[in-house]
Amino acid sequence: MLDLLRTRRSIRKYKSTPISSEQLEQLKEAVLRSPSSRGLDPWEFIFVQDKILLEQLSSAKQHGAEFIKNAALAIVICADPDVCDVWIEDGSIASIITHLAAHSLGLGSCWVQIRLRQTADGTDSEARVRQILGIPDPIRVLSMVAIGQPDQKLRPVAKDKLKYHKLHTDRW
Ligand SMILES: Cc1cc2nc3c(=O)[nH]c(=O)nc-3n(C[C@H](O)[C@H](O)[C@H](O)COP(=O)(O)O)c2cc1C
Repeated sequence: MLDLLRTRRSIRKYKSTPISSEQLEQLKEAVLRSPSSRGLDPWEFIFVQDKILLEQLSSAKQHGAEFIKNAALAIVICADPDVCDVWIEDGSIASIITHLAAHSLGLGSCWVQIRLRQTADGTDSEARVRQILGIPDPIRVLSMVAIGQPDQKLRPVAKDKLKYHKLHTDRW
């Protein structure tokens, strides 16, 4: 696990090679193993591989989503706030588990924030994703994780660059 954390980076460039059906199955298993508050599992996951939909999703946010159009897969992480009041935390955990699981499978991935973001024309990103994918009320959209065969190598963050000054012992 520590090695996975040491080498993890956000990867935004992908080869056109598809991901294998085995990798897809493993990603599905991984996200469903995400822990959630009181085990209520308020999340819902949309696995998008359709090229036209990926292209549409890549403009669902003004900055930092364009690379989705070149991804083999985007996992759209949604949650039902009526099921659990801490759905944001539950969805965030699922998002990071997706990102780490992809890395463990040798895939590159990047979190794309949707909640509280806007498109280039000022439309709410969540409303845009909801419209593209036909997501019903009251389901909320938190993030999308773009995934593909990595086409870039980013250096792990060196240990001496970690913000150790943010660690406190016993009291602030
Ligand atoms: C909550 C959250 C939202 C993020 N949103 C985006 C995003 O919308 N677009 C993007 O390209 N990267 C996004 N990222 C990735 C961060 O930019 C990235 O994790 C950070 O720059 C550190 O780089 P690293 O992941 O390679 O260590 C997000 C990451 C987190 C945790």
